[in-house]
Amino acid sequence: MHISRPKGTIDFLPEDASKRRHIEELLRNAALLFNYSEIRTPAFEKTELFRRGIGENTDIVSKEMYSFSNNEFTLKPEMTAPVIRAYIENSLYNIAPVQKLYYIANMFRHERPQAGRFREFSQFGAEAIGSGDFRIDVELISFCNFFLNSFGINNFKILLNNIGSLSERRLFLEDLKDFLKGHETALSDDSRRRLVINPLRILDSKDPADIKILETAPVIFNYLNDDNKKHLGDVMNGLTRLGIVFEVDYRLVRGLDYYTSTTFEIVSSELGAQNAILGGGRYDMLIEQLGGKPAPAIGFACGLERLSMILEKNSYQYPAERKIDLYIVTSGDIAREKSLDILYSLRSKGILCETDYLNRSVKAQMKEANKLGVSYAVVIGSQEIETGTLRIKQMETGKEEIITFDGIINYKYV
Ligand code: HAM
Repeated sequence: MHISRPKGTIDFLPEDASKRRHIEELLRNAALLFNYSEIRTPAFEKTELFRRGIGENTDIVSKEMYSFSNNEFTLKPEMTAPVIRAYIENSLYNIAPVQKLYYIANMFRHERPQAGRFREFSQFGAEAIGSGDFRIDVELISFCNFFLNSFGINNFKILLNNIGSLSERRLFLEDLKDFLKGHETALSDDSRRRLVINPLRILDSKDPADIKILETAPVIFNYLNDDNKKHLGDVMNGLTRLGIVFEVDYRLVRGLDYYTSTTFEIVSSELGAQNAILGGGRYDMLIEQLGGKPAPAIGFACGLERLSMILEKNSYQYPAERKIDLYIVTSGDIAREKSLDILYSLRSKGILCETDYLNRSVKAQMKEANKLGVSYAVVIGSQEIETGTLRIKQMETGKEEIITFDGIINYKYV
């Protein structure tokens, strides 16, 4: 019986891996341009970090974590808490008062797999720690807009909200709960459950009956203090200044407990039910909550599988892989042995070359060279070894040239 990969995981075969490498390269270049530096953290952390960071009642912590060693450790389901843990542990605030960090890493969530939702997936994300200035919110959202555009993706919606501080949210939640209790019997099963454990998440419901009820529900904006109202206005003005189109969505609450003030998401109708390409927001209380010196912060994370899905839908043209410069066709044992050192010398000079390892006929090897789309092929047999001259063939034109053995190494493979 064969063993298959675990449900919700992905094999990246060479072509897929090459596409993913290209995506990562573009993202790294964008991060560099916006002056975000890379951070890498362990694949697993103490479970307590996520409990305290993300919140006990969130879907992630209550049912989606891969925990082990008596629940002491957990494979990371997201990167914000680990980045903040590393920021505090390594006193990064001493290095620069505003830390702008990015990551590309694998996350693990025990979710029900479906299109665009995996159990192991990759996130590209960024965290800007140390500034509460609205301009960093604008910068981060414009960064997202920028890198999506750099892939030619324009068909998305930026949703923006401000969910205020804990105290503002508490008042809002009381009123929201009262309102929803009045409609409890009409709510979906999921929302009725959430009414007890995490009523804010009901605002996220995709259920048509819930959406209808929510039309007349209290609106969080009316509970915001003047600072948060101004912050939202400033972010809106900043984005408008940059010509970035967005929609304010007062129901955008996000699924992690650490958010305060600005929240945002970028959604695409090309993704189906799991329509968020990326999501983020401010988390001005998290650093203090995790034992650090209080500092405001904001970040986002983008799912790379969802980004690839959009690229596939848009028939994105990935750059071609580097072609093989030279294929060495061999005939006879001496030639085969000699090809070993020629290949090594060529590779030492940065020339991409290949040979046959199946002792196939010259004809079959030429066929293989053609199939691989190599630029040049050369045949080495007993006659070539005797005369010290070889024929190098440019595959596209069929043009041949006579060269020496040294000539193979010094040839201009263009
Ligand atoms: P999140 O909304 O949980 O936020 O995830 C961010 C993105 O990761 C989603 O928009 C989606 O593209 C992708 N994603 C999430 N779960 C899955 C899954 N099971 N399969 C495939 N893709 C998925 C966070 O993780 C926050 N840490 C973002 C953040 C950073 N907030 C502030 N800083």
